[in-house]
Amino acid sequence: MKDWVKTNFKNRVAAESLSKDKIGKKVFLCGWAFRFRDQGGVIFIDLRDRSGIVQIVARKESLGEDFHLAEKIRSEFVIAIEGELVARAPEAINPKMKTGDVEIILSSMEILNPSKTPPFSLDEYDASGEEVRLKYRYLDMRTNELKDRMVLRHKFIYAIREYLNQEEFLEIETPILNKSTPEGARDFLVPSRMNAGEFYALPQSPQIFKQILMVGGMERYFQVVKCFRDEDLRADRQPEFTQLDMEYSFVDEEEIQASIESMFTHVFAKVFNKKISAPFPRMTYKQAMEDYGSDKPDLRFGMKLVNVSEEVKSCDFQVFTQALQSGGIVKAIVVPGGANISRKEIEDLTSWLGRDFRSKGLAYMKHSANGLESAITKRFKAEELQAIAQKVGSKEGDMVFFGADSAKIVHASLGALRLRLAEKYDTPNPDELNFSWVVDFPMFEKDDDSNQWIALHHPFTSPKNDDLSLIDSLLDGSNPEGIIRAKAYDLVLNGNEIGGGSIRIHDEKIQSKVFKILGIQEEDAKEKFGFLLDALAYGAPPHGGIAFGIDRIMMILSRAQSIRDVIAFPKTQKGTCMMSGCPTPVGREQLEELKLRAITI
Ligand code: AMO
Ligand code: AMP
Repeated sequence: MKDWVKTNFKNRVAAESLSKDKIGKKVFLCGWAFRFRDQGGVIFIDLRDRSGIVQIVARKESLGEDFHLAEKIRSEFVIAIEGELVARAPEAINPKMKTGDVEIILSSMEILNPSKTPPFSLDEYDASGEEVRLKYRYLDMRTNELKDRMVLRHKFIYAIREYLNQEEFLEIETPILNKSTPEGARDFLVPSRMNAGEFYALPQSPQIFKQILMVGGMERYFQVVKCFRDEDLRADRQPEFTQLDMEYSFVDEEEIQASIESMFTHVFAKVFNKKISAPFPRMTYKQAMEDYGSDKPDLRFGMKLVNVSEEVKSCDFQVFTQALQSGGIVKAIVVPGGANISRKEIEDLTSWLGRDFRSKGLAYMKHSANGLESAITKRFKAEELQAIAQKVGSKEGDMVFFGADSAKIVHASLGALRLRLAEKYDTPNPDELNFSWVVDFPMFEKDDDSNQWIALHHPFTSPKNDDLSLIDSLLDGSNPEGIIRAKAYDLVLNGNEIGGGSIRIHDEKIQSKVFKILGIQEEDAKEKFGFLLDALAYGAPPHGGIAFGIDRIMMILSRAQSIRDVIAFPKTQKGTCMMSGCPTPVGREQLEELKLRAITI
């Protein structure tokens, strides 16, 4: 490498910082050759660094000896250049480039490193070749799309840290080699060499440790932390993902929610220069399920679920009356302007809902000039049809879909149908940021298979004060189906659950009752969470907290299709890393050290 390059590294300027006010200056830049055009005797190159792009011009007369280097340059060669910043001729101005009205006339240059031809174009982003992009993630990262997301993610986390520091939160690290934490997913296990046959679990979240930090008097904690969950992956789920994890002492739900609202207000103003309106609306879990069939309702559009059980109870359509007789409900949604949804489309929707949500069918009526019409309307009296139309608020040109089943199945299927049809018929505004709190989650739900109560959030979540007495009635069997509300809340953004938390139980007696309801025996509780129970007995302050999925938030804010697009080195849907190839088998020696033998069954 030539000396002038080495001594100049620290003086390099950012490509995108160059503008007309610096014309006439001698500048030094380092970066990658992006696009180039060789016009014989003059070579135009777009030099790219992290900041952006600037056009550099290699001419024989100004470059002299170094011109042969310019001729050698190919895509993605790393170069260092020096030259004079000049204004472009009016006809050469490129309004699409931030630096489109200037260029650099080279006086010297050096090739710092050649590059193989990249396996995909860095110019036109094409998400379809994801596997190749993941394999060569370092090349993908050079595209504006991915780079901008990395920059945004950094700014977002930085603004959070800045705000929380100001609010006197301490960032404290918690262990990665851990005992299992109860967030309801499968653990990733790590064998211990020094304790053969024993395993650490990677944390599904720092839940227990952050509660213990409160017992330790830390008062306000946060951490930007990796969490690990071995679950089936989806577009918004990764096996390792990042949480903003927080815990407060001496708080109630309202205080935590208000504190989060002011954090997001600060962060959005700082990072996006956007004013978001707080307080965010609060909706109970019960209302969210009834109106939207979901505990993470997208409130950017309507199409609410409407209960028409009363209106249809005396009709002649057995699908509805039988569902009601067996304790179910009949609900409807109106698709605005959906009257022309074809038979074929309805058949497809019906089989999708049957397959994925166990619904038994999808009855429908079109609202035409004569009111509600379809193959089933002959089973309804004219007054009944009128009453339905009035209750659901349909008008000519709309389509009304019905679900008749247990509340659980109707909510799940119509909730999913609502989201699917909104894409076409009531399209949400992509620019809107619609935050809402879903509060008062039930403490427990029955597991479909085992019929055992399971914790909806986690077993350390406190019941609502008003529902405390219900715990005993659940235990002594006097109200075996009682719904106990928890001091648990989720933050929802545009129909995505971006965070969840709760006020914790700090009273040992309530904690052991909750374990009993969950079927966790005393011995088992001691063995699993004994260290938390011990800590709670030594003056635990009232406390609560919340955790946010940073990747999910970034995915929404950068309008990415997948959570993988906002993570520098993500895993595929199958949990593999395309770049390193992990997971991979390990050698016998390594297993022997761990006193393990690998047998796959
Ligand atoms: P929870 O399990 O609700 O709560 O997780 C908090 C948030 O983390 C995000 N998240 C995920 N993001 C990507 N991939 C995943 N596999 C994944 N799983 C969860 C979601 C979710 O809202 N300890 C409690 C919090 C508390 O009670 O304070 C917890 O982890 O956005
Ligand atoms: P069937 O009586 O099975 O021919 O169904 C008549 C219409 O009712 C069809 O459009 C079915 O899709 C619909 N349907 C059947 N079962 C249900 C149900 N549980 N909820 C809503 N619609 C249903």
